Amino acid sequence: MGIEDSYNFRRISSTLTTSGLVRPDVLESLAAQGYEVVVNLLPDTHEKAVPDERAIVEAQGLEYVHIPVDFKQPTRLNFEKFCETLDRLPASKAHVHCAANFRVSAFYSLYQVRRGHWSVQRATEFIAGIWQPAEYPGWTEFISDILADGIVEPRVGRIEQAPRVTTRFPIESDARADNIQRLSDLVNAVYDEAESGMFKRKGTRTNPADIERLLRARALILAEIDGVLVGSVSVKSMSDGLAEFGMLAADLDHRGKGIGSALVAHAEAWARRMACHTMRLELLTPRNWTHPSKEFLKKWYSRIGYAPYATESLETTHPHLVPELATECEFTVWHKSLT
Ligand SMILES: CC(C)(COP(=O)(O)OP(=O)(O)OC[C@H]1O[C@@H](n2cnc3c(N)ncnc32)[C@H](O)[C@@H]1OP(=O)(O)O)[C@@H](O)C(=O)NCCC(=O)NCCS
Repeated sequence: MGIEDSYNFRRISSTLTTSGLVRPDVLESLAAQGYEVVVNLLPDTHEKAVPDERAIVEAQGLEYVHIPVDFKQPTRLNFEKFCETLDRLPASKAHVHCAANFRVSAFYSLYQVRRGHWSVQRATEFIAGIWQPAEYPGWTEFISDILADGIVEPRVGRIEQAPRVTTRFPIESDARADNIQRLSDLVNAVYDEAESGMFKRKGTRTNPADIERLLRARALILAEIDGVLVGSVSVKSMSDGLAEFGMLAADLDHRGKGIGSALVAHAEAWARRMACHTMRLELLTPRNWTHPSKEFLKKWYSRIGYAPYATESLETTHPHLVPELATECEFTVWHKSLT
């Protein structure tokens, strides 16, 4: 179990993560993961509070900031302290948590609006992805009250330096031999790691001919950071309003920067434009043991709206893969409604 398994975990950037409650053993591992600061909005009197959280955090040499927010009565003073804290920590690797990421998602979004980094719409969507403030007395008023301040001191504060990931369908020049080879190598390196122990062979998830075919058919969406290719996903539309994405890959050196999310979002937007009502993906997992990257995928796909739809037989769907397997595998199709 890691920090990312904490309830309602959200990675805002490579230096800022948020969540609900963090288990004591996970708190103990934060220094080892490069964290420098923990900000906790949960009052010590809360039934789920970790009693010695400050001691656990400070024993590792991390800074601990406690701003107890009564969920029934969030105050402007709480929020001012939160803003001061984030302003003071412009670049440190920080984890900010409460019990369920309700307090934190609201405070963090309001902070980003206050400093002019986020639109009100982005903040509202971020919060709505975690909880519905309207269902809890007082929160709608609190949020409206803070938003009424508008942008305050826009030049200061913590600007999350998320790298700018762009995605696009290929153009003619992408089909250059060196580019094709690079993309093929990238995908194979990613899958060698993501499916380690599952196949007898290595480096054969794809090949330059396959990549060239996909590029020329404009069936591959490419991701770039600062013009450098860092990921891709293949897409196709099938019968009956079904679309599929596959071979999703983010460069191993650029994980957690939003490449996978941007590629899936682009694939889904494309499918909607193609009038598809459902997105499909295939997931191959070891039957008798768990693979960390597959467990990560299951959680992430579930978070973004996918659910297991059917378990199929690999013998029927991809018979050529069966002799290649190094271990028994389960082959599951996942669906997400796009309507
Ligand atoms: C799946 C994959 C493309 C994701 O790429 P990525 O660019 O690292 O992903 P993102 O940065 O967009 O993050 C995706 C989600 O994972 C979370 N995440 C990212 N890095 C994380 C980390 N180190 N620990 C925990 N969670 C993390 C993000 O917060 C995000 O979750 P959210 O949507 O709830 O906010 C990448 O892991 C990969 O290439 N895997 C191997 C290939 C594979 O398995 N493909 C799919 C086959 S079906």
